[in-house]
Amino acid sequence: MEARHFQQQLLAWFDRHGRKDLPWQNPVTPYRVWISEIMLQQTQVTTVIPYFNRFIERFPEVETLAQAPVDSVLQLWAGLGYYARARNLHKSARLIVEQGFFPDSLEALMALPGIGRSTAGAILSIACRQSQPILDGNVKRVLARYKGLSGWPGESRVSKALWAASTDYTPEQRVADYTQAMMDLGATLCTRTQPKCPACPLASDCVARIEKKTTALPTPKPSRKQAVKQLYFLCLTDRERRTLLELRPATGIWGGLWSLPEFDSIEAIHNWCLSRHIDIKSQTCLPSRRHSFSHFHLDYTPLCINTDNPINFVMEGSRAVWYKPEQIETLALAAPIKRLLQLTRG
Ligand code: ADE
Ligand code: SF4
Repeated sequence: MEARHFQQQLLAWFDRHGRKDLPWQNPVTPYRVWISEIMLQQTQVTTVIPYFNRFIERFPEVETLAQAPVDSVLQLWAGLGYYARARNLHKSARLIVEQGFFPDSLEALMALPGIGRSTAGAILSIACRQSQPILDGNVKRVLARYKGLSGWPGESRVSKALWAASTDYTPEQRVADYTQAMMDLGATLCTRTQPKCPACPLASDCVARIEKKTTALPTPKPSRKQAVKQLYFLCLTDRERRTLLELRPATGIWGGLWSLPEFDSIEAIHNWCLSRHIDIKSQTCLPSRRHSFSHFHLDYTPLCINTDNPINFVMEGSRAVWYKPEQIETLALAAPIKRLLQLTRG
């Protein structure tokens, strides 16, 4: 949609529904807007309000903040979390006082610790009435949905497109109201779950609403798609209640630990038993379980087989050994195998 139309819809909504009595909105000064924006970075408005009021009462000007010991700043911050924000505020206050004036350009603001591009844009648009775009979490969500822009905003292609949209829509006139309106819209209507589209001033042209994609947008951070490996563990027990264990190769998963023989299928287990003249007296399939490694999931199904065979035949590779229950206690076993064996031996 044309930028002017977008702005008009949004500002008309702001005039009726926007927040105009937040403590940092009267009076509006760069210092107060800066403090509020830092507090609001990771914290909700209702939580911030009492903290902001106490902070401003104690440090009404950037000079008082700069002169204060950092501990007194941290004390007032206690409970807000992300204490690096308080340390950065204090450092920045000292830099601003050294400099002799409050920075009023994007570059100068962004040079201060704790102030990114969006926070700088918010301070300049709200406090200095400069036409500067912002792109905080709320605005990203509104614009990604409105434009129907898919892709995780953490990707530079997506972030560029969102900044371009934010820049396009940011007006020359009434920029403070516009910025506040975008934040308010994101916080109150265009919420992460169940956005209130019927009440939204942008609804008529919002791609996500029209194409029913509000749930899918903005695209969440890609969860690393993990491989899933499936296998059967054979828990073979002879008539003396000895269990066949296998020493795993020294390298790789469970390197050097004792485990159970692995198979791709139940059929493969039956063939294996058949070729070794192991008579299956009884067989039980236990429920499958998942064990997660850092880079894949192992879904395993234990198949317990009892045999009456004498067990004095040689197992291949000397990696396989029959163990009595009391011997098993002393072995280095992979954790899920240990649990499994405890379970099967009751
Ligand atoms: N979140 C970040 N900045 C805000 C502001 N000025 N008003 C409301 N919510 C915000
Ligand atoms: Fe967000 Fe719905 Fe408004 Fe679109 S119409 S901007 S999804 S609240």
